[in-house]
Amino acid sequence: MKWFYHDHKDFESAVYKCRVACDIADWSLVQDVFAEMASNYKNHVRIEEDVLFPAYDAHPGASSGPTASLEADHEQILHLMDHIAQGLAENDRESLAENFSLLYRILRNHHEKEEEIFLPMASGALYSNKDAILAEMHSLAAKGD
Ligand SMILES: [Fe+2]
Ligand SMILES: [Fe+2]
Repeated sequence: MKWFYHDHKDFESAVYKCRVACDIADWSLVQDVFAEMASNYKNHVRIEEDVLFPAYDAHPGASSGPTASLEADHEQILHLMDHIAQGLAENDRESLAENFSLLYRILRNHHEKEEEIFLPMASGALYSNKDAILAEMHSLAAKGD
């Protein structure tokens, strides 16, 4: 599951980079870093929602509470990212820096939940299905965007 932690760190540092680039008004850097991050983030969420969460939910004794809460976070994060993308597309830079700060905080919080609560709780379920899960992840990654 190293990719999971690795992706999280990458997303956080990309958003941090965008926030700093707002201060020096380097809009093309913001644009590039954000576009790449947004596309990778959507793939990451797809793997979680299409492979990892269902694998956990299908495990006997699992309750759907934890994954429902993580999915609600994804919705909030993707909504904020759409809002940022729209601001960038319309050259509306008024609240971009604030929105990147907010996105950074929400992401940190979400990643903490996934790493410190979901993974330890789900590791038994995920491990017993390891091969099937890896195969599904690879086929999703191969489809890409
Ligand atoms: Fe997530
Ligand atoms: Fe994640």
